[in-house]
Amino acid sequence: MRLSPRGAAWPSRCGPAPISAPYKGGAGGRGASSDPGRMGEPEPEPVRKTHMNIVIIGHVDSGKSTTTGHLIYQCGGLEPRLLEKLEAAASQVGKGSFKFAWVLDKLKAERERGITIDIALWKFHTRRFSVTIIDAPGHRDFIKNMLTGTSQADAAVLMVSAAPGEFEAGVSRQGQTREHALLAYTLGVKQLLLCVNKMDLTEPPYSQRRFEEVVRGVSLYLRRIGYSPAAVPCVPVSGWAGENVTLPSPKMPWFKGWKVKRKEGFGKGQTLLEALDSLLPPVRPSNKPLRVPLQDVYKIGGIGTVPVGKIETGILKQGMNISFAPANLSAEVRTIEMHHEPLQVAFPGYNVGFNIKNIAVKNLSRGHVAGNSRSDPPAAAAHFTAQVIILNHPGFIKAGYSPVVDCHTAHVTCQFAELFEKIDRRSGEKLEDNPSMLKSGDSATVRLVPKKPLCVERFFDYPPLGRFAARDLKQTVAVGVIKSVEKKPAGVTRKQAQKALLIK
Ligand code: GTP
Ligand code: MG
Repeated sequence: MRLSPRGAAWPSRCGPAPISAPYKGGAGGRGASSDPGRMGEPEPEPVRKTHMNIVIIGHVDSGKSTTTGHLIYQCGGLEPRLLEKLEAAASQVGKGSFKFAWVLDKLKAERERGITIDIALWKFHTRRFSVTIIDAPGHRDFIKNMLTGTSQADAAVLMVSAAPGEFEAGVSRQGQTREHALLAYTLGVKQLLLCVNKMDLTEPPYSQRRFEEVVRGVSLYLRRIGYSPAAVPCVPVSGWAGENVTLPSPKMPWFKGWKVKRKEGFGKGQTLLEALDSLLPPVRPSNKPLRVPLQDVYKIGGIGTVPVGKIETGILKQGMNISFAPANLSAEVRTIEMHHEPLQVAFPGYNVGFNIKNIAVKNLSRGHVAGNSRSDPPAAAAHFTAQVIILNHPGFIKAGYSPVVDCHTAHVTCQFAELFEKIDRRSGEKLEDNPSMLKSGDSATVRLVPKKPLCVERFFDYPPLGRFAARDLKQTVAVGVIKSVEKKPAGVTRKQAQKALLIK
């Protein structure tokens, strides 16, 4: 059985992204408007290409949605008629410049405010890859949604505006350029592409000097964060005008193309699309036990409960018995689907929806983790030890401090229960045992206790479930890597408990 015959049961904006149709990844996207994106649906590719999840990050208004929308349009993923409709609707409210952004910004509040609030996913193909593109919000109020998007990504495009003053605002202390790049690195997105946008607005337009200035400035930060600038393609574009997005631009004859040097080899090309196509396919840990952090859980009429998420490690099979943590429930997988195609088996990197028996939607949610009941099933963490770096905190952090921890798709308050040792960030040497407090710039080993049920893993075992960001006061206070986890005993499932009660 297909979970979602086209246009039928599966809601258009949830579940894995249908080919060329967007959906909002967050709760805000549920039940949203119709799905005009389907109109331009290309034929599905006969050969399955390597799957890549690419997140678009960067400072607010740098042109992430516009460039992504135009890229999809130029790739044929959007009917001209639909774009005309979007243009008319956007112009009517004086926001004509957002027509491409509106391809992805579909929520009413997003369109009114002219910003992205929740992540939007869209599927398209490059020559080598089948890409799920995740358009993240730049506004700092919605960093949680950006983190959710980034936690699912194999690679990131860092969008930086070259417009006068905008590059400078982006890399300032309050800007999101550096913060987003650092968060992407911490969350394990080690492949980065730098897209220098709004080249039409430089002085003079399409200025080589400005492009080089932006690249120099951003590379400096990238190197400090841990990226190797030589491995980062730097592509000048105008997302709005569509210059150098999918075709080389006559406006930038000075641009002889981007070049990269990676340990896997050299790469070169001209356009943004070529740079996306040149990314290295992710190494998929399919030999590890299964872990699927849930991005959302849907109830679909006639089908039932459908958790949706990206397989981080292991293999998901039809008929498999899977456990959910921290809910401590298990169920059999009835059907699996990706991009409206039924699958018998799904591999790491796939964004899938799967139908399960006997678990109500209300018992599962974003942030829960699915795994194989018979092979290291996931469990709730009683507490965990992590190495953290304090990024921004106006005062001192003492034992008892409780920020929100964003790990994979979960957002749970965790208490810094014990500060074990302060470490030199550069040398890794111990500086102090049991420090009484930590401040910005410090690195330390700490024990964290989740205030609500949470499933995390040791970074060494399951990297995507073992790195996190801690937030407080609307900013990222710390980032961390998990060294060890004390798991709660699995206990009995709710069903077993009910059975036991009945027998009594
Ligand atoms: P958030 O998602 O809210 O962080 O913003 P964003 O990065 O997605 O930016 P968005 O695409 O919404 O664009 C913001 C504004 O910049 C819109 O008015 C766009 O038309 C404009 N813009 C984006 N790219 C370009 C460009 O290449 N040239 C020009 N001139 N304007 C651009
Ligand atoms: Mg946007």
